[in-house]
Amino acid sequence: MEILSSDQVSRAAKMLQTGELIAFPTETVYGLGASAYDGTAVAKIYAAKGRPSFNPLIVHIPTLSAARDLGSFSDRMARIAEAFWPGPLSLVVPLRSQQISSLVTAGLNTIALRVPAQPLAQALLREVDIPLAAPSANISGRLSPTRAEHVVDGLDGRIDAVLDGGPCRVGLESTIVTEHDGNILCLRVGGLPIHEIERVLGTEITVADSDTSNTPTSPGQLLSHYAPQTELRLNAQEPDEDELFLGFGEVDHGPHTLSGSGNLIEAASRLFDALHELDAMAEDTGIARIAVAPIPDHGLGLAINDRLRRAARPV
Ligand code: TXA
Ligand code: MG
Repeated sequence: MEILSSDQVSRAAKMLQTGELIAFPTETVYGLGASAYDGTAVAKIYAAKGRPSFNPLIVHIPTLSAARDLGSFSDRMARIAEAFWPGPLSLVVPLRSQQISSLVTAGLNTIALRVPAQPLAQALLREVDIPLAAPSANISGRLSPTRAEHVVDGLDGRIDAVLDGGPCRVGLESTIVTEHDGNILCLRVGGLPIHEIERVLGTEITVADSDTSNTPTSPGQLLSHYAPQTELRLNAQEPDEDELFLGFGEVDHGPHTLSGSGNLIEAASRLFDALHELDAMAEDTGIARIAVAPIPDHGLGLAINDRLRRAARPV
């Protein structure tokens, strides 16, 4: 991977515009960035991190006004944004943009948005002029990187470049906040202290940390997962008469395949769109079930199968 210095922002931006993966500094941690419009590039983020499941990613933009193009802000959420952006805060709001890859939101109708303050991150976001999806730039399960050297240690050979902005000032991931049923909730404690947000709002915030409630046993899990209305039958070799079929590789049973060539990156980038599409089709035609072909259980196939199992689980 290339190590780019702070005067190479325009090279980093060009690489991102052509679908490459570039780690970049923010004041919290280094992010692993890709165009949020490009499903294939976003799928490569998951492949590089070796993440065994698709969690929705935070989308980075340079200003609140750019954020408003992607999500809807209530008066209170706008007030929080105005007080703390740019800064170590992410806001989960209803999704507005049709252009964001559904892999970024993991099929949800909400989006996590963040305006980072770090000057190089700001310069990059302005130059690239595309929203950047960026989780922390580490192998899944390892420590978050707060220096370019950490990124190189973890991801060398797996990503295209890192933009070196020196050490991160905050060193902790952003605080994530959302509004739910008229209450302001904190989904992840992080770099911005909650009491500062409470001071601006004049009300208390409930902490419901989604990062610690990700185990299926914990109650009140707030990060809901996208699930189709229609029942799914997994590892199906072929559809029964009353089923739609979602294939993998070349398909003899109907027109739908996650990837005609059996490419897992393409399959990942199409997963949520395909489920949404077939779900709508099933509803229109009164078909009760979607049969899904077996997906190889390695590489991105692990994350695809994880999501399919969650989607297939009766609610
Ligand atoms: O400081 C940070 O936030 C860093 C830097 C790079 O900006 N990014 C980061 O991203 O920590 P990541 O992908 O590691 O964390 C994303 C978190 C996950 O816990 C995910 O569940 C939550 O954001 N999230 C994203 N979209 C969401 C949504 N629509 N609803 C609820 N939670 C969401
Ligand atoms: Mg992380």
